[in-house]
Order: sequence, then C-alpha cells, then structure tokens
Amino acid sequence: MASVTLRNIRKAYDDNEVMRDINLDIQDGEFVVFVGPSGCGKSTLMRMIAGLEDITGGDLQIDGTRMNDVPPAKRGIAMVFQSYALYPHMTLYDNMAFGLKLAGTKKPEIDVAVRNAAKILHIDHLLERKPKQLSGGQRQRVAIGRAITRKPKVFLFDEPLSNLDAALRVKMRLEFARLHDELKTTMIYVTHDQVEAMTLADKIVVLSAGNLEQVGSPNMLYHAPANRFVAGFIGSPKMNFLEGIVQSVSANGVLVKYETGETQLVLVEPGRAKEGDKVTVGIRPEHLHIDVADYGVSARIMTVESLGDAAYLYAESSVAPDGLIARIPPLERHEKGATIRLGATPDHCHLFNSDGQAFQRKIVEVLAA
Ligand SMILES: Nc1ncnc2c1ncn2[C@@H]1O[C@H](COP(=O)(O)OP(=O)(O)OP(=O)(O)O)[C@@H](O)[C@H]1O
Ligand SMILES: [Mg+2]
Repeated sequence: MASVTLRNIRKAYDDNEVMRDINLDIQDGEFVVFVGPSGCGKSTLMRMIAGLEDITGGDLQIDGTRMNDVPPAKRGIAMVFQSYALYPHMTLYDNMAFGLKLAGTKKPEIDVAVRNAAKILHIDHLLERKPKQLSGGQRQRVAIGRAITRKPKVFLFDEPLSNLDAALRVKMRLEFARLHDELKTTMIYVTHDQVEAMTLADKIVVLSAGNLEQVGSPNMLYHAPANRFVAGFIGSPKMNFLEGIVQSVSANGVLVKYETGETQLVLVEPGRAKEGDKVTVGIRPEHLHIDVADYGVSARIMTVESLGDAAYLYAESSVAPDGLIARIPPLERHEKGATIRLGATPDHCHLFNSDGQAFQRKIVEVLAA
C-alpha cells in the first residue's frame, strides 16, 4: 500500500502542453477516480504515474520516494487497461502466472498468488479455460487477477469496464468496490461513467483540457462544485444554467433577475457580488420544479421523456441557452408547447460569477457531510 503525490506535474508533447501544473495527494488505501471529457488527459496522467510516459516537469512520489526516473517495473504499480489483452493460447492460470514467471518467481509461490487472486475474483473454477471460453466480464477479471498476483502498492485502472454491457458493468462495479474493501490497496481509476465515479470514489479528480478543476468527495463535488465546469460535468442529466444579473444582496442570499423580469433567490454567501453583476444560476434537474410559488422563469415545454420511474421535461427559455431539464413524477401529463414557470427553492440553487467561479452555498457543510 502506498500514497501517491503529484507536485506541479506537467506534460508536453513537443510544444503541445497537455497537462498543466497538476497537484494531487492520494492517501494510502484511497480509491481515487479521474473523470473529464475525452482528451482532457486522464490516460496521460495515469501513464505518467505508471512510468509509461515521461514526466515533462514536476515531481511524482510514491510513498514519499521520487519516482520520475524509476522504470515502470520498479514502481510497485499494476495497470489494467480497457483492452485487457490476454494471451489467447494460454489458460487463465498461465495468463495470470505469466508476469510472475517472467520475474523469476518460484513455482509454488506463483501457484499461491494465482489461486489467491482467482479466489478473490470468483474465477477459481475457470483456471484451466482459455480466454475465448469466457464472457467479457470473466476476461476482465482475469486481467485484474493478473494485476493482483503482482501484489502492487498501487492499482491503476483505465476505463476497465467500458467494453462490457450495462448489466455486467453494474456487476463489475460492485466487484471493484468489494475488491477495494478486501485488498485495501490504493487504487486510481479512470471512467466516463458518472455512476461508477460517484459510487466507487473516496475522492474524484475532475480534469478538463489538462487542468485540474476540482478534487473532492463525490458528495462535495455534487453539492459544492467549485466552478461551472465541474457543476456541469458531475451529474446526469446535467445542471441547468440560467443567465441573469444581481438585483440585490441581503442576509437571505442573492436575488437574481432574469431578462424576462422574473427573479430567483439563491442561498449563497454573496462575497463581493454587487447589483448589476452578471451571474449564472445553476439548478439540478431534480430541483427544478414547475410553477414554484415565488421564483422561476417562464419556459415553453418542448418534450417529455418517460423513463418509467421518472420523467424528464425539456423546456426552452431565453435565459437558458442550453435549454432546461426538469425531473418530474412519471405520470404527470404536460402538453407540448404549453408555457410553464420553472424555478427552485433558494437552498437548492447554485450561483456562478462571470468567470464561472461558484459562490459558496450556505448549506454546504450539511450537504457534504
Ligand atoms: N503520444 C502523443 N502525442 C501527442 N499528443 C498526445 C499523445 N498522447 C496523447 N496526446 C494528447 O494528449 C491529450 C490527452 O490525451 P489522453 O489520452 O490523456 O486523454 P483522455 O482524457 O484519456 O481521453 P479519453 O477519455 O478519450 O481516453 C489529448 O489532447 C491527446 O491528443
Ligand atoms: Mg483515455
């Protein structure tokens, strides 16, 4: 087990800077998930930690030791990729034993390591099979098993479940949680899947275009995103953004006025906000309600999508360039083209300044506990 520390890490391919000044502290035994849009640098960061990619600037430490120039095999790390290339002509047993054999480990020791990993992953009854005789999920488990046999100090997983179907992903997600509980090894995990990130992570790291946007617990990122990017990235469907200006500031928060003349009170610390400042109100779909008594903006219903257990109402409004989405009870009936009023209670709203930075919500300590 080990801590991983990144200090001012940079990466450039020739003149193209793809990672900028990344600082991150991963504690011993933590499960850390990297998220961010395609091309933001998640894999690059992982590969630098693994030693598969040179570090252009900054320091990488594992358990307090500088690792920048240490070869991959000596870093105590095991990495599992999305494509988990198994050797097709070898049995599962041999696939899992291969790395240890290469490292010159003695046979009895290999046997213990392979059987132990297979047991942890519930594939001990399949050891004599070849990869083509397995399901996708079972193959993925062999790839993880191969990593476990090496007893790494840190596991790196780069989108390990993205080749699997939805049901299998859920199953494997639970397996990952169990695996982490059981091994208690530091794990770094990349995913595009919101649910995987929210459920597996002790800590989520949000990246965008080579910058670290925010690090925090899933609850913290959901309830107290530091900026508009994180607010829009975490949560699905994404947060609604409504453009307005500050009408007044009081002990109750900030009163925002939309160009329609309608208003929304937002419960945040006003900081330096003053009358006339351009701001953006953020409201999650589950908090955007129809015909709220005091606050809201008129919008025209575009369509309603029913998901069985809930429904999403899509509406358009001049103050929300990306449109509005409200989560509503499944059987509510709404007519396309009708005008409604959409708003939220002040404690459910977020507020961002014109640079996209979030105002501090007054109820964050409670929500993020
Ligand atoms: N060998 C390379 N040479 C030049 N640029 C590269 C190289 N590898 C990656 N990049 C660039 O670095 C950036 C980050 O790439 P990276 O693969 O880390 O993204 P990612 O976040 O893992 O994306 P995805 O979610 O699609 O896997 C991208 O802009 C990519 O084009
Ligand atoms: Mg990637």
